[in-house]
Amino acid sequence: MAFIDIHGHYAWDIDDGMPSLEDAKKALEKAKNNRISTIVATPHVVSGKHTLKDLEIIKDRIHDLKELAKVYNIEVLEGCELFLNHDYLEALEQNIFIPIENTHYLLVEFDVRKELGNENEVEDRLYEIQYKGYTPVIAHVERYFKGSLDIERIQDFIDNGYLIQVNATSFLGYHGKHAQKFAYQLLNQGLLHVIATDTHRCDGHRSPCLQEVFDLLVKKYSYEDIHTLMYENPLHIINNEEVDPIEGKTSFFKKIFKRR
Ligand SMILES: [Fe+2]
Repeated sequence: MAFIDIHGHYAWDIDDGMPSLEDAKKALEKAKNNRISTIVATPHVVSGKHTLKDLEIIKDRIHDLKELAKVYNIEVLEGCELFLNHDYLEALEQNIFIPIENTHYLLVEFDVRKELGNENEVEDRLYEIQYKGYTPVIAHVERYFKGSLDIERIQDFIDNGYLIQVNATSFLGYHGKHAQKFAYQLLNQGLLHVIATDTHRCDGHRSPCLQEVFDLLVKKYSYEDIHTLMYENPLHIINNEEVDPIEGKTSFFKKIFKRR
């Protein structure tokens, strides 16, 4: 049994992730102890801020991480977490992003400090990515809602072919009560494809914890579903294959009410 982590800031001194090489080493050690066999390194890329030259520096650091991770028997693949702000078209037109290694999948995020934006700010931007030939993997969806989760909107994302990623740490309550509740709600309703770490540090509440979260979730959910979210679907993503959401506990009702 192993896990594949498609979202993590393990590359050091390149974004708000690992501050140093030493931290990266410790994080890789922790990832190994959490049975993570493959990591997609996803440094932040900010539309309108980063240039093609910055992208080369980021790719070089990912290469350094790849070499370092061999010591820990961990495979590192390249990627980024593209911040879809108002300058997103500039990033798309100039190819200032890194898809998950040699695939059509691209990890994207919105501003977690505020409620998910309107259609112009969200749906249009996701559509443009798809139009360009990439499938958006929407990072930590549970963190974009403050009052209640907009199930219908998330279902629309899925119906459009986008993938939903939830942070493992949200199940532990590390992103607050709301994010924790929404993470479980998404899991109960089968409205997610991947659980990943979004690792930023070598210890504490933003460190690799897939084994801990797997052990927690298999007590309440089927082994197959959790294994799918932490291994099978990430494997499909890195192999550039199609990905299906899990059924979820309330899928019977979801099927009845699903809009076509
Ligand atoms: Fe991230």
